[in-house]
Amino acid sequence: MKKNFKRTLVTTALPYANGPVHIGHLAGVYVPADIYTRYLRLKGEDVILIGGSDEHGVPITIKARNEGVTPQDIVDRYHGIIKKSFEEFGISFDIYSRTTSKIHHQTASDFFRKLYDEGKFIEKTSAQYYDEEAGQFLADRYITGTCPHCKNENAYGDQCEACGTSLNATDLINPKSTISGSVPVLKDTKHWYLPLDQHEPFLREWILEGHKEWKTNVYGQCKSWLDMGLQPRAVSRDIDWGVPVPVEGAEGKVLYVWFDAPIGYISNTKELLPDTWELYWKDKETKLVHFIGKDNIVFHCIVFPAMLKAEGSYILPENVPANEFLNLEGDKISTSRNWAVWLHEYLVDFPGKQDVLRYVLTANAPETKDNDFTWRDFQARNNNELVAILGNFINRSIVLTHKYFEGKVPVAGELTEYDNTTIAEFASVKDEIEKLLQNYRFRDALKEAMNLARIGNKYLADTEPWKLAKTDMERVATIMNVALQISANLAIAFEPFLPFSAAKLRGMLNMTECDWNRLGEMNILATGAEINAPELLFEKIEDAEIEAQIQRLQDTKVANELKNKKANPIAENIDFEDFLKLDIRVGTVLECTKVPKADKLLMFKIDDGLGGRTIVSGIAKHYAPEELVGKQVCFIANLAPRKIKGIESQGMILSAEDFDGKLVVTTTQKEVAPGSEVK
Ligand code: MF3
Ligand code: ZN
Repeated sequence: MKKNFKRTLVTTALPYANGPVHIGHLAGVYVPADIYTRYLRLKGEDVILIGGSDEHGVPITIKARNEGVTPQDIVDRYHGIIKKSFEEFGISFDIYSRTTSKIHHQTASDFFRKLYDEGKFIEKTSAQYYDEEAGQFLADRYITGTCPHCKNENAYGDQCEACGTSLNATDLINPKSTISGSVPVLKDTKHWYLPLDQHEPFLREWILEGHKEWKTNVYGQCKSWLDMGLQPRAVSRDIDWGVPVPVEGAEGKVLYVWFDAPIGYISNTKELLPDTWELYWKDKETKLVHFIGKDNIVFHCIVFPAMLKAEGSYILPENVPANEFLNLEGDKISTSRNWAVWLHEYLVDFPGKQDVLRYVLTANAPETKDNDFTWRDFQARNNNELVAILGNFINRSIVLTHKYFEGKVPVAGELTEYDNTTIAEFASVKDEIEKLLQNYRFRDALKEAMNLARIGNKYLADTEPWKLAKTDMERVATIMNVALQISANLAIAFEPFLPFSAAKLRGMLNMTECDWNRLGEMNILATGAEINAPELLFEKIEDAEIEAQIQRLQDTKVANELKNKKANPIAENIDFEDFLKLDIRVGTVLECTKVPKADKLLMFKIDDGLGGRTIVSGIAKHYAPEELVGKQVCFIANLAPRKIKGIESQGMILSAEDFDGKLVVTTTQKEVAPGSEVK
């Protein structure tokens, strides 16, 4: 059943304000939401895009504690960075606010109070860990101990990161408070629970029967939650950062972050439209769409709708087009491992190239399964698609208009059959793009838009106006008119996807309006209208720029491995007599050369104070031969000589092996006479 809506309310998951945003955020949530909203705006529909930072929750308090600042300091810092990143990437929020705002605290508090007054919660007392030294209850993340499954000693109260098991704090063996280091005790505490079990019949009907059209990944996750059976969920916590529970006797308790954050969508709409916000939240003719990542599905499809339903006056989401995850060069994006492309850093390395990233992230969006971002793919899509197809077509059209028609749209003569086929192909793509956008298939929609540019490119390549210019200017005029109309169409079609480039293109074409409904028309530009000078829309990205990015990730990987690696266990004890058998000496390197046909070996001539000796050592991957000449090294002098690649090696140079396999030769702290003994 297709419903008719009067207006659309688009929300985007509120990112936690405890770190900057990266390409995964953009690809999964903000770019698709922005494309969708821009498209509806271009059609002249009533639509608003709501965003903001999620500023409560335990991780923010932990970060603050670690840095010795207040949680407010943390969220102020990251809210600013995140907001700026979204602006820079053209995410066209009607409002981007935050959950520490006064209006949000009031809205969330009132929402809770209404459900409380109407008896929509259940109250339960349970035993939770309490830190007697710090005088506070401990959130799961503030408790560490031994994992009962894998015996990792640093498991958290909610999860063991070593084996991936989710835990209850009471499962931990030898629990410890990370605040004071003391052993926590169990103490009774009262909380309010949303009885999701009571809402289950409604949710089953509403989702499983009423929203079969939801994306299969979303529908499937909901079904499996529902099939497992829903449990009451606590909506309050014993911490001191968040929206205070507005009930007498609830001092020191706040609303659980997942209770207050989605209400942030409502608060931010209120902040934007103090007088008319209810139209967007309470009128059945409003279409509510939540853009989120897959880890948020249960909250947006089950918990928040149950809250809204319990409150009673709100509409429910019409769709929740959640995306899967974007990986980076084959690995899961991770803030703690710094495995990410941060938006604010991207713009330092690729200034002005917002649209390139928007393009690549959409072309490769994780819509139906996890996907991988690679820098090579980024380069290829820029060079082979944006530059070679879209940029090339636009550039040719405008340059030729200036060359042959003094920069004015020429008058079209009679259209040939080929012209008409091109135009027809063009007109039909519009419906296709719309259908895809309506169904949240942004990847395919972008492909269709790019196809328009391909058609244009092919049109010029086939008609070759530069050849006809000597013989048939009338025909050239027709071709260039068509090419310019196609360019104008591209300026409309790409506006939702590549807003910066589309605006630049409209500037070149002197287009004052941009109306989606005219897409497919061939009279957008009036004959005789002035066309401005061409500017490059896209430029080639060179190998060196890409290699620098890959190298940076490689460095991150090495740094992480070093951080995680522990020293090898110590070998079995030996007797002092055994040690005395080793004759270790210091020698000065006189010569050092590569051993032919052996890429790991270097041959050393060493001054050992006794006439010199030759040693072959497997460190060619770590040193250039000339680096070590004149340096002193330690070597075992009484190792029985052996032949290596036909050379007699008289001893062994001692090297330290770093955790990443890097070899560093040992030497003495000050220069000593060659032949000195090491003991
Ligand atoms: N902060 C959450 C996350 O990053 C998303 C919150 S969405 C909202 O996973 F609905 F709660 F706002
Ligand atoms: Zn474990």
